Amino acid sequence: MVVSYGMKRFDLGRPQILSSALGNSDGLRVFVVSDLHTDYDENLKWVECLSTVNYKDDVLIVAGDVAETYNMFIVTMSLLRERFEHVFYVPGNHDLWCRREGQNYVDSLEKFNKLLDACKRIGVETNPMVVGALGIIPLFSWYHESFDKEKDITGYRIPSLEMACKDFYACTWPNGLSNGDISLSLYFDALNDKQMDAIKDIQKTCDHIITFSHFVPRQELCPEKRMLFYPKLPKIIGSDFLEDRIRSIHGAQGRRDASSCHVFGHTHFCWDAVVDGIRYVQAPLAYPRERKRRMNGGENWLPFCLYADKKFADKLNPCFWSDYYSVNPRTPHDTKLAPWVARFYKQKQSIDV
Ligand SMILES: [Fe+2]
Repeated sequence: MVVSYGMKRFDLGRPQILSSALGNSDGLRVFVVSDLHTDYDENLKWVECLSTVNYKDDVLIVAGDVAETYNMFIVTMSLLRERFEHVFYVPGNHDLWCRREGQNYVDSLEKFNKLLDACKRIGVETNPMVVGALGIIPLFSWYHESFDKEKDITGYRIPSLEMACKDFYACTWPNGLSNGDISLSLYFDALNDKQMDAIKDIQKTCDHIITFSHFVPRQELCPEKRMLFYPKLPKIIGSDFLEDRIRSIHGAQGRRDASSCHVFGHTHFCWDAVVDGIRYVQAPLAYPRERKRRMNGGENWLPFCLYADKKFADKLNPCFWSDYYSVNPRTPHDTKLAPWVARFYKQKQSIDV
């Protein structure tokens, strides 16, 4: 299904080739981060404190969820542009919230277009590009409930998606598009079709390719339901169409010589794992309260340097959950809650009563 709601035409044709300040691109470094959420003062401070000197020749990939308001988005992206030679971005769900500034937009699609326009103005890339010998491909996406293929947890009072996920009221969509079915995931995926010529050129000419999205392409890049405080989370995080798109670019088994990488965000679980020949990385700044809990090991490792010296970082970054799944098989048929989740629901039920 292709839905058209007066979307602007994207830049078509061959991918623009960006120069690297380093000329031969030998020293090109690519950093990644997602979920900046600079509506939180501490997170904005983190961006402001990034060196204005150290990253002058580098690329930064921002995998969505920069800020809820347009003004804070502009402030944040301008700060990043001052610090990095090239900044790449795809919108996340929080970026498309209209609840605080609904009067400025007809709906979240209009906000989406305005964010892309703003990126063009301040020099943030949202189209596929070649930097040195590296192809960088932003992929638009949205989640759909049927992405979740694993057995549900039952017997606990787990809030509905509509109650737990603010997107259901903070985003507004035109008729025909809805958070409750696959329409949004199909709509955003179809936008990537407009870049296929540029993507084909990148496939032909680049040794290494990084694709990136805000949402999650495979369910095994999220902990199993019994480990999650909100066990329905897998229903609002990812897209099968996104994974198909990634495989159409990198190949069913990835490219040769470990040269395929996909960067994502959204769940705030840091991740670094190779699945079927593609390396999948999440490096979220996340919420201040999550960093205080030392979830993801704080903030000092961010932005994460994914690519340097003409290759991807050799070692997988230590991340709690991807490390866990590197030694433990996934057993989603087991629906007995993990102790910390069971404690949470036990306390909750005694409060509810
Ligand atoms: Fe998100």
